[in-house]
Amino acid sequence: MRLDSPIHQIPLASEDTRKLRVQDGHLFICGVGCCCGKTEKGFPFLALDEFKRQWKARGIRRRFHLTISGCLGPCTLANVVLVQFHGNSIWLHSINSVADVDLIYNYVEAMLDANQFLEPPPELASRHFQRYTVDTIDQSQFDICEDGVTPSPAVAGS
Ligand code: FES
Repeated sequence: MRLDSPIHQIPLASEDTRKLRVQDGHLFICGVGCCCGKTEKGFPFLALDEFKRQWKARGIRRRFHLTISGCLGPCTLANVVLVQFHGNSIWLHSINSVADVDLIYNYVEAMLDANQFLEPPPELASRHFQRYTVDTIDQSQFDICEDGVTPSPAVAGS
């Protein structure tokens, strides 16, 4: 696996330039928000230290960045993470265990090895949700009806 990403020279407004490592992807962990990982409020445990440990241990830091963020928005789905890779956004919910951290980094490493975006593995696919109107997954069949009832996929569009 390639360990480095390219460095670009980025022009600034002042006509000066700065070097910037252009990375393959980025992992955002909702780790310091109001809900994700807040067991005292009844939300599931978040393996935050394991996310940090594996990011360093796997040697991917020069191609794939990690950010521990505040609230990402979809609190009702806690615990939420966002994987961005080659322009794709993969939103995942219910990331509640160390085993889930393994799955996410194994998925990221598979994409780094292949040097391309890959669909999430089956173990994560059920927790992949649509966050943007244009997204890497289409769950528009789950749109809220006028009466506020969410139809099942089997009856959507009927
Ligand atoms: S606190 Fe995690 S999505 Fe809001």
